[in-house]
Amino acid sequence: MFKEDFPILNERKIAYLDSGATTQKPIQVINAIDEFYKKNNANPHRGAYSLSIEATEAYESSRGKIAKFINAESPEQIIFSKNATESLNLLAYSYGMENLKKDDEIVISIMEHHSNLVPWQKVAKVTGDNLKYMYINDEFELSDEEIESKITDKTKIVGIAHVSNVLGTVNNVKKIIDYAHKKGAIVIVDASQSIPHMRIDVQDLNCDFLVFSGHKMLAPLGIGVLYGKKNLLNNMTPFIMGGDMIEYVYEQDTTFAPLPNKFEAGTQNVEGVVGLAAAIDYIENIGYDKIQEIEKEVVGYARDELSKLEFLDLYLTPNKENHSSVISFNIKGVHPHDVASILDTNGVCVRSGNHCAQPLMRFLNIDSTCRASFYLYNTKEDVDRLVDGLKKAYNMFKKYI
Ligand code: ALA
Repeated sequence: MFKEDFPILNERKIAYLDSGATTQKPIQVINAIDEFYKKNNANPHRGAYSLSIEATEAYESSRGKIAKFINAESPEQIIFSKNATESLNLLAYSYGMENLKKDDEIVISIMEHHSNLVPWQKVAKVTGDNLKYMYINDEFELSDEEIESKITDKTKIVGIAHVSNVLGTVNNVKKIIDYAHKKGAIVIVDASQSIPHMRIDVQDLNCDFLVFSGHKMLAPLGIGVLYGKKNLLNNMTPFIMGGDMIEYVYEQDTTFAPLPNKFEAGTQNVEGVVGLAAAIDYIENIGYDKIQEIEKEVVGYARDELSKLEFLDLYLTPNKENHSSVISFNIKGVHPHDVASILDTNGVCVRSGNHCAQPLMRFLNIDSTCRASFYLYNTKEDVDRLVDGLKKAYNMFKKYI
């Protein structure tokens, strides 16, 4: 229904099933960026001339829009970064390194993307704290018992993906946040795979920090967001140093700018910010209810059709309500890269590999999977093309299996 808004999908006639990696961009977002460069481009916060003031206005009004979109208390709690990875590194360096000490605990889940895992390994090595994991059960979910046994009085930070980029499991982050707060820990939510598909309300979640990437929600590549509670952000020192994040600079010392500039050193990605605001307008115009209605139909159909293929292993929670728009699978005995290449000859784009989640792969006792991930522009025909391609791949390989 919305495919016609996406020029690349009209041009290439593909079944694009890799929105978990990055979404395609609607013409409205492409036009907003085009317009910014044609009419408003200058370096924000730096010029007293009207063009620079307009660029500042475009940049700061987008921050306000994003704050409203996730129901942040104020715009200065929205920090722009390159992507969720950079936001998480900022937290590891500016919060983790500064607040953790020997024998404290960081708790994350085994389904974390490397970006919410490797930085915490670094923090643990430097501070001497322990990095602990919450493991999934046979239904690819985190049980309440697991959450409650891992988060203890020693836990200082909990890092959790709202939705797994491999399994599509929707984690009960509200429950995790409530429980972690009772134990005195702060919680970082990685919303990269959830915010394209469901409304996020940071005040309702009561998360301490939340990160996401714009490019997985129709915005351009290279723009990310960090939301944080104001008292926590105020007490953190900057991660990247340079222009525009300072108050006074002396030969040997510097005082820093207030939020949000303290965390935004150097010339920023204004086209990314403008594109992200346009992506939010696009999502708001359609509405999450409609997005979920489309995804429920298409992902539900994909679940049903893929379940009929006996030659597939599916890594999927049986609980449809706890499952978002990602389906990982393998043709038994065939390498996922081979499967993905054959699907490509059918015009079907899926990701294959470990999906930046090697500890999860090891836990599942596999090296890699193929992953189909869906968004509002996908249709049942895309699923049919996937199923046809998988049958073709199986028929090509079955004599070797
Ligand atoms: N994190 C992105 C994915 O899961 C790249 O594909």
